[in-house]
Amino acid sequence: MKMDSLKWIIFSCLLCLYGTEAYKILAVFPLPSKSHGILGDNMVKHLLDAGHEVTYITPYYKETKTHPNLKQIDVSANKEVINENTMDIKLVMAGIINLEDPDLVFDMMFTIASKTLENPNVQEMMRNQKFDVVVAEYMFVDLYSSFATVFQCPLVWFSTVNPHWMIMNLIDGPLNPAYNADYTHNRVTPFTFYDRVMELWHQVVEQYKLTHKYYYHEVGAYEKSIVPMLKEKGIPVPEYNEVRYNGSLVLGNSQVAISDAIALPPNYKHIGGYHIDDEVKPLPENLKKIMESNKNGIIYFSLGSNIKSKDLPVEIKEGILDVFKGLKQTVIWKFEEVLANAPKNVHIVQWAPQQSILAHPNLVLFVTHGGLLSITETIHHGVPVVSIPVFADQFQNAKRAEIQGYGRNVRLTPNLPKDLKKAMDDVLGNPSYASVAKELSKAYHHRQTKPKDEINFWIDHVVQTRGAPHLRSVAISLPYYQRYFLDVLAIILISLLTIIYAVAKLWCSLTSKSNGKYKTN
Ligand SMILES: *[C@@H]1O[C@H](CO)[C@@H](O)[C@H](O)[C@H]1NC(C)=O
Repeated sequence: MKMDSLKWIIFSCLLCLYGTEAYKILAVFPLPSKSHGILGDNMVKHLLDAGHEVTYITPYYKETKTHPNLKQIDVSANKEVINENTMDIKLVMAGIINLEDPDLVFDMMFTIASKTLENPNVQEMMRNQKFDVVVAEYMFVDLYSSFATVFQCPLVWFSTVNPHWMIMNLIDGPLNPAYNADYTHNRVTPFTFYDRVMELWHQVVEQYKLTHKYYYHEVGAYEKSIVPMLKEKGIPVPEYNEVRYNGSLVLGNSQVAISDAIALPPNYKHIGGYHIDDEVKPLPENLKKIMESNKNGIIYFSLGSNIKSKDLPVEIKEGILDVFKGLKQTVIWKFEEVLANAPKNVHIVQWAPQQSILAHPNLVLFVTHGGLLSITETIHHGVPVVSIPVFADQFQNAKRAEIQGYGRNVRLTPNLPKDLKKAMDDVLGNPSYASVAKELSKAYHHRQTKPKDEINFWIDHVVQTRGAPHLRSVAISLPYYQRYFLDVLAIILISLLTIIYAVAKLWCSLTSKSNGKYKTN
């Protein structure tokens, strides 16, 4: 604690020397999901490290005061909507939880967002606080944009996944569905004809729902929880559309080396990997021993923080253990319960310092659920993967790893153990997977600034330039009919139809006259 405050004082002095101003920042990360908590915590950490004062809306309230400049707003009530047990892998496998259903996802995210805005802790904060900038996690509803209106300050969106049409909608316009799939779809370019048709159809339908169905839900919540607050504070009440499209910037948890190279507006910034520590923390003694115990290498297996290995069906668990038993490598399996019948070369750990394991030179393979944090960490350290995607963007991440050539992809079916064995044998037996992982790692690391410096630079830029209006895409103000030339298309179509109609009419009258002649004759 003492050491921490000392570090902080030295840091603040250094910042004074460099002349960066300290801001009051509101960080909005209300989703009760562990990986989102990791992203929120690390964002807040970097902002605090830069000397700012941060108010953090989080469902993971920590009793112990963690930093003199941090104030937490507790929204743990959001755990009533989703929590660690929502993602039972058996329910996902049986199709009972279908997170590819946009209506279900919207419902969940909308409930969390409206609950957050209604939360008495949040309401009190809106009443009493002032901020220079709001950083809000985008989760498929736009409601958190209203914090920026309440505080009359710029808004920075934070996007947890690779750039997709919904987030780009808010600062520029949807991406091209000819090469950019919805984040939940198992599609990576190049698309087939069918893929393109399906993406176009899906994105047009969803776009319609966004503006005609979901929109009214959001306006309802805005009128209920925000408008009274604006009135109380004497702030003129803007239209909801003015609020939601007013974001200055998107900070995206993405990196081009592990996503697609696509054209993005100047106010989208890649900051993927910012949650990864600069220095690798040393492994605990027992794990260090295991990591060095086998000259054939170590395999690390973890399904991430939302999905639990213990929820896998028993036959699959046993099948996987059988596969591991036959390997000459040693396996570290992050598993939430004690497995009595684990073979000698399998070590079960309840918790694992994933980054430190991935950093170890003896690690030869990472078997992962393909979450973006795990994928980013694996490329950070240049380790090949076998992915078992379960939901959300994991299918796309896993498929991209396969297409880029640093991994294989296994579906979560009763056949998993057999498929897993094939995929693992392939990746372990073929050095090209590891060498692609190393090459991508090099491309990923070779950049001018670290992701955390990128965050602080752009937040500073947005505050200094009062919302960075010069970075805003000119396309955002264009209605769709102008953007896609639908008006021009309509004129061409109408003209063509008119000409065809006129020619047909003329033709008919000419032929009917001559027909008439024959009849009278
Ligand atoms: C829009 O953003 C600017 C700065 O970026 C802010 O000053 C203004 O209050 C915002 N307007 C609304 C309606 O949120």
